[in-house]
Amino acid sequence: MSESPSLRPVSDIDTVACIGAGVIGGGWVAYFLARGYRVRAWDPGAGAEDRLRRLIGAAWPALTELGLAPGASPDAWEMVPTVAEAVEGVGFVQESAPEDLELKRTLLAELAAATADDVVIASSTSGYPMSDMATSAADPSRLVVGHPFNPPYLIPLVEVVGGKGTEDWAVSRAAEFYRHIGKSVIQMDQELPGFIANRLQEAIWREALHMVAEGEATVEQIDLSITDGPGLRWPVHGPCLTFHLAGGEGGMAHMLDHFGPSLKSPWTRLEAPELTERLRDDMVAGAHASAGGRDMATLVAERDRAIIAVTRAVAAARGRTDG
Ligand SMILES: NC(=O)c1ccc[n+]([C@@H]2O[C@H](COP(=O)([O-])OP(=O)(O)OC[C@H]3O[C@@H](n4cnc5c(N)ncnc54)[C@H](O)[C@@H]3O)[C@@H](O)[C@H]2O)c1
Repeated sequence: MSESPSLRPVSDIDTVACIGAGVIGGGWVAYFLARGYRVRAWDPGAGAEDRLRRLIGAAWPALTELGLAPGASPDAWEMVPTVAEAVEGVGFVQESAPEDLELKRTLLAELAAATADDVVIASSTSGYPMSDMATSAADPSRLVVGHPFNPPYLIPLVEVVGGKGTEDWAVSRAAEFYRHIGKSVIQMDQELPGFIANRLQEAIWREALHMVAEGEATVEQIDLSITDGPGLRWPVHGPCLTFHLAGGEGGMAHMLDHFGPSLKSPWTRLEAPELTERLRDDMVAGAHASAGGRDMATLVAERDRAIIAVTRAVAAARGRTDG
């Protein structure tokens, strides 16, 4: 274990590096800009700079609607040609490269070597434990998972967890920084593939794929079953408190005593289905049918307006004004 470095307050951080600037990395860039940070981005993909500019442009109306930090500018970023230039002098690094274990191992090792010893490097990985991603790093002590949700500029949650070689101070500092910039943080003290939220999402996703593969439900029916059903309750109470209410006056205790036996019913399969070409094609065609002619930009704008409206409605219903 290395000694923890003397740390400047997270409020002193003014520049962030975003490594990988696709859907998630670009969303992080937009969020950091809205919170008043300067951002240095690095992305080796063809056309990455133009894509990032378009993503920031598409996100900015929603971010403006929510309120920008003083001095926030959609132009306070630059795309630089090397990793070393991206991380030079920054106070925090957010890695959002493709979900490829070998790529992450190489990249995180390079980032750990290129950054100062008080800079935390957070990976947006959807599910790799940091212990698996940090194996090539000479010094893994500052490597943490900082798992966001799409779009990172609107969904508050970030799941934070270290690996075997991560120092506790680095996990705490990542959590502190995310809270400082307005995120809702779950700080986990043990590694779990998929963390918490993706394990739950994956259970639903697997069952949805099974139902489409078996011709039991269409893509549109699956989406409607959530948007017009349980999805309306989850923003307020989550799945557990929702079921507490489903037990009536007896709450969770009655709910479990009443419905406990049906846990054994063959309602779900949970094993992942084979992603056959046919299933892939059916899902793609179903998604296009659900989109009903709306292009991606229209869907993104619609989603962003809805997330803001739901967030505000839930805050108001709870009697709070911080939504
Ligand atoms: N899409 C989601 O809903 C979602 C949600 C949470 C977390 N994540 C995670 O975020 C990360 C990025 O996913 P995404 O959906 O933004 O993918 P994406 O394909 O949209 O973006 C990946 C970007 O990385 C760039 N890239 C390619 N090689 C690179 C390298 N060696 N170093 C740095 N960048 C490189 C690509 O050019 C591309 O712009 C993944 O780890 C993913 O699991 C995704």
